[in-house]
Amino acid sequence: MSRPSRFQLANVLLVLALFISCSSWTVWSSSSCKHTNSAEVRPHSVSITEFGAVGDGVTLNTKAFQNAIFYLNSFADKGGAKLFVPAGRWLTGSFDLISHLTLWLDNDAVILGSMDFEDWPVIEPLPSYGRGRELPGGRHRALIYGRNLTDVVIAGNNGTVDGQGSIWWSRFRNKTLDYTRPHMVELMNSTGVLISNLTFLNSPFWTIHPVYCSQVAVQNVTIIAPLDSPNTDGIDPDSSDHVCIEDCYISTGDDLIAIKSGWDEYGIAYGRPSTDIIINRLVGKTRTSAGIAIGSEMSGGVSDVHAENIHFFDSYTAIRIKTSPGRGGYVRNVYISNMTLSEVDIAIRFTGLYGDHPDDAFDPSALPIIERITIKDVIGEKVERAGLIEGIKEDCFVNICLFNITLNVSSRYPWNCSYIQGYSDLVSPETCEPLKGRIFPEHCSDCYYLSGHLRSLSNEHRGAWLMSW
Ligand SMILES: *[C@@H]1O[C@H](CO)[C@@H](O)[C@H](O)[C@H]1NC(C)=O
Ligand SMILES: *[C@@H]1O[C@H](CO)[C@@H](O)[C@H](O)[C@H]1NC(C)=O
Ligand SMILES: *[C@@H]1O[C@H](CO)[C@@H](O)[C@H](O)[C@H]1NC(C)=O
Ligand SMILES: *[C@@H]1O[C@H](CO)[C@@H](O)[C@H](O)[C@H]1NC(C)=O
Ligand SMILES: *[C@@H]1O[C@H](CO)[C@@H](O)[C@H](O)[C@H]1NC(C)=O
Ligand SMILES: *[C@@H]1O[C@H](CO)[C@@H](O)[C@H](O)[C@H]1NC(C)=O
Ligand SMILES: *[C@@H]1O[C@H](CO)[C@@H](O)[C@H](O)[C@H]1NC(C)=O
Ligand SMILES: *[C@@H]1O[C@H](CO)[C@@H](O)[C@H](O)[C@H]1NC(C)=O
Ligand SMILES: *[C@@H]1O[C@H](CO)[C@@H](O)[C@H](O)[C@H]1NC(C)=O
Ligand SMILES: *[C@@H]1O[C@H](CO)[C@@H](O)[C@H](O)[C@H]1NC(C)=O
Repeated sequence: MSRPSRFQLANVLLVLALFISCSSWTVWSSSSCKHTNSAEVRPHSVSITEFGAVGDGVTLNTKAFQNAIFYLNSFADKGGAKLFVPAGRWLTGSFDLISHLTLWLDNDAVILGSMDFEDWPVIEPLPSYGRGRELPGGRHRALIYGRNLTDVVIAGNNGTVDGQGSIWWSRFRNKTLDYTRPHMVELMNSTGVLISNLTFLNSPFWTIHPVYCSQVAVQNVTIIAPLDSPNTDGIDPDSSDHVCIEDCYISTGDDLIAIKSGWDEYGIAYGRPSTDIIINRLVGKTRTSAGIAIGSEMSGGVSDVHAENIHFFDSYTAIRIKTSPGRGGYVRNVYISNMTLSEVDIAIRFTGLYGDHPDDAFDPSALPIIERITIKDVIGEKVERAGLIEGIKEDCFVNICLFNITLNVSSRYPWNCSYIQGYSDLVSPETCEPLKGRIFPEHCSDCYYLSGHLRSLSNEHRGAWLMSW
């Protein structure tokens, strides 16, 4: 066994010193979501029972929700209003929210999605997708839907929204659906959205879908669907900015969080990116997909994603970027830090040839730009493979930086990398060839979020550190 050389040791210590200095700059307040919604202080409040709703799990209450919300519209310019849903099982079809509304679910209140497809009207496809996500044409409207809104709160004392998605899943599996399945919650073109302290069960399709939104906070929610339920993503910020997701537990049949921004030529033309996305304290599992995914629909661009304090267990993939020729767009400035993995098949996976196009009109020469992705401080046990990181032949993914990653890996081939370029330090098992260049000191500025103050620090301290040796 060879002892590390003085030089190697000095380098490790230099890196350690930089990061110790660096970490004092990263001050997390207990909450990283800023929001201005005032869930508790709406001056007016009505109970859904005042509009004839019956919480027996059988009576259909769509009209009661619609009437209550129509009535509360008159308080929109008076500080807004709260719609209180007491304990009970409130069956309903899709309904529409309004601005300055708080939908409040008390403990033991359950909103149940109707099992009759007629109660989920079909609306036009999203312009950035050009068609329904799974079938051409329109799509069923979300159970809880809102469009062109400002200041909307969906919260409560751990109430539950249960989409009763099983009928949708079986109709999806036997291919008898006419239109794309509905989301559980969709806010479209809205600003100032807060979703908090609730449990979401069994969504027909993606669970929470903010699209063309700004200033969205999802805090302290639990999202659960069977591990084999099709496409039951947890939270999908889509062409949205300033989205903050914090203290969530998610266990579903697809990606736990998937950041998106439109699909091929439709997403490119619409051109609305997802940016400024914060994920903090996320725990979850998915047997089929990823803990945090970006794409595969990313044609409007995705940037400035910061995810920290993450724990994925018993899962297929932890971090995944999915894209394809034809997507165009970009994924840049992604920072993932402090992630703990247990029993994960693939820790890091980038796929450049994902395929899956809306139609034949996509432009195969529209290549995505994938750059400045930093993943650091990862510990994993019972991981099968560390990284399957595949770029695109004529479109290398660049400045992929891995720092301080320790995985107990069972595969004899822990890394498989192609058409990527980047740097790494303190990674075990030893990284693949394209990432072997050192981050510190000279490539620090090529790596997202490892530069800036860090670089000036390294310049200041390097002399001193080297001299002391
Ligand atoms: C978004 O909502 C605003 C009003 O809140 C409206 O003026 C605008 O036209 C809407 N845009 C789309 C694409 O729906
Ligand atoms: C939202 O705004 C768009 C664009 O102005 C408009 O076409 C649409 O009817 C509005 N929808 C609602 C529900 O207000
Ligand atoms: C999360 O929500 C539950 C109820 O759903 C509540 O008991 C708990 O205090 C909340 N935690 C935080 C950090 O808000
Ligand atoms: C919230 O409700 C869910 C489902 O009813 C339950 O599993 C969970 O333990 C509850 N959480 C809290 C903090 O009460
Ligand atoms: C598809 O599944 C639904 C729901 O389980 C069932 O009602 C229907 O008969 C099935 N159709 C076919 C063609 O298998
Ligand atoms: C969520 O629950 C916590 C703990 O009870 C409370 O402090 C917080 O205000 C709640 N959030 C909302 C939006 O009601
Ligand atoms: C890392 O994340 C875990 C939660 O997964 C948390 O308990 C721990 O405090 C975090 N460590 C740091 C240094 O923030
Ligand atoms: C490496 O990451 C672990 C957590 O995964 C952390 O405790 C440790 O301080 C990190 N080391 C450096 C040099 O940053
Ligand atoms: C990795 O896992 C194997 C099998 O579970 C175990 O024997 C070994 O001690 C572990 N190594 C480390 C460094 O934790
Ligand atoms: C690595 O990936 C390439 C391309 O995807 C594949 O052909 C090769 O078999 C993989 N090697 C291993 C050891 O998994």
